[in-house]
Order: sequence, then C-alpha cells, then structure tokens
Amino acid sequence: MANVHILDHPLIQHKLTIIRDKETGTKIFREVVNEIARLMAYEVSRQMPLEDVEIETPLAKTTQKRLAGKKVVIVPILRAGLGMVDGMLDLIPAAKVGHMGVYRDEESKKPVEYFCKMPQDIASRQLLVVDPMLATGGSAIATIEALKSRGGKDIKLVVLVAAPEGIKELQAEHPDVDIFTAAVDDKLNDNAYIEPGLGDAGDRLFGTL
Ligand code: PRP
Ligand code: URA
Repeated sequence: MANVHILDHPLIQHKLTIIRDKETGTKIFREVVNEIARLMAYEVSRQMPLEDVEIETPLAKTTQKRLAGKKVVIVPILRAGLGMVDGMLDLIPAAKVGHMGVYRDEESKKPVEYFCKMPQDIASRQLLVVDPMLATGGSAIATIEALKSRGGKDIKLVVLVAAPEGIKELQAEHPDVDIFTAAVDDKLNDNAYIEPGLGDAGDRLFGTL
C-alpha cells in the first residue's frame, strides 16, 4: 500500500493557511503556492538515491556523494499543477518537465485528458506528479495511468491538499505511488470540492474565478 507522507513543517502549515483564506488574491496565492512547492521539494527529495564519486579538493582526493541516475521529471497536471513547477525547479533545477492536461468534467466530475507531452526515457526516471488538489483522485489516477502506459515506473504524487476519498481511490488504483501532501482535509462536499480546502486552485492561481 502506498505511503501517505503528511509534510506538516510549521512553515508549510503557515503558508497553507494563507492560501486557504478567501481574502488572499491571485498575486499572493501564486507566490505562496510556489513557496510551499519549494519546501515540499526539499522533503520529497530526501529519498533521492545517491552514488559515490571520486573528486579532488584543493587538499586531497576523496570519495563523496552525488545524486544518482537520470534527471527527475516534474509532471504538472494542467492547469493548477503549473503553479507548483517553479518552486520545485528552484530546488531541482536540472529536472525536466512533462505536461499533462486533464480537467474534471463539471457534471460528471470525471477526468478528461486533453494533452500529454513527456520527455524521453520516462521509464528510467523518477517522476514527480504535482497538483495542488487531490479531490476524488480522478485526475491524478488518469495522469498516473498515462505515465505508466508510456513506461513510467517510479512515480510520486505531490499535492497541497488531499481529501480522504481521493487518497483511498489512489491507493486502490496505484498502490505503488507514494503521496506527499501538506494536509489531509475533512471530506468532499456534494460538488466534489475539498472541505475546508482552498476552493478552485486553478481559478485562484490564474484569476479565472
Ligand atoms: C482541479 C485540480 C485537480 C483536480 C482535482 O483541476 O487542480 O487537477 O481538479 O480533482 P479530482 O481529484 O476530483 O480529479 P480542474 O479540473 O479544476 O482543472 P484546472 O486545473 O484546469 O482548473
Ligand atoms: N479542484 C479544485 O481546484 N479544488 C477542489 O476542492 C476540488 C477540485
């Protein structure tokens, strides 16, 4: 069963409260989403594999550590996932970025895929799927299926707010995918929005309310 990592560092919790507040406007919302993503990248990257490398300091030869393997791929789920990309890239600047376009149909709440552009060799890379919201789980599940169908194996999901319902669905469909979230909220409402949540993440990020 996939692990759920709740990243409840005080700075993350403080910033999450700012973006939950309905009085927070687009400019601050966008900035703070990126700040949280940066802090989450630090926690998520704890598990990155290292390898030994021999170097020479000005004084001696020495064996030290460096990141092993191919470059990470950050996969934002459009649109709202885009809000987390720059913050993640601040800490993992050499990462590649693969875009996945999925939106939730307003009536059915089911995911609709409209775009997918991944770097080569995703089979041998660590893939970090980013989206502020895990609600029913449909969008994340569809994205992970798309990545697996292209050979993706090492996949993690990084969200800001998760609903228990979405976590359960994702664990059932993709038990191999660990979930990193800043908060697990109470529930989904009748419209499949997370409560207390932060509203519509894409609309708040891009000012399309
Ligand atoms: C939001 C959010 C997730 C999805 C979560 O996107 O950014 O991708 O809903 O809901 P789910 O877990 O029930 O699938 P939305 O469909 O609003 O698209 P947008 O980012 O383009 O606004
Ligand atoms: N999408 C959002 O942006 N917010 C929610 O609460 C649920 C889905």
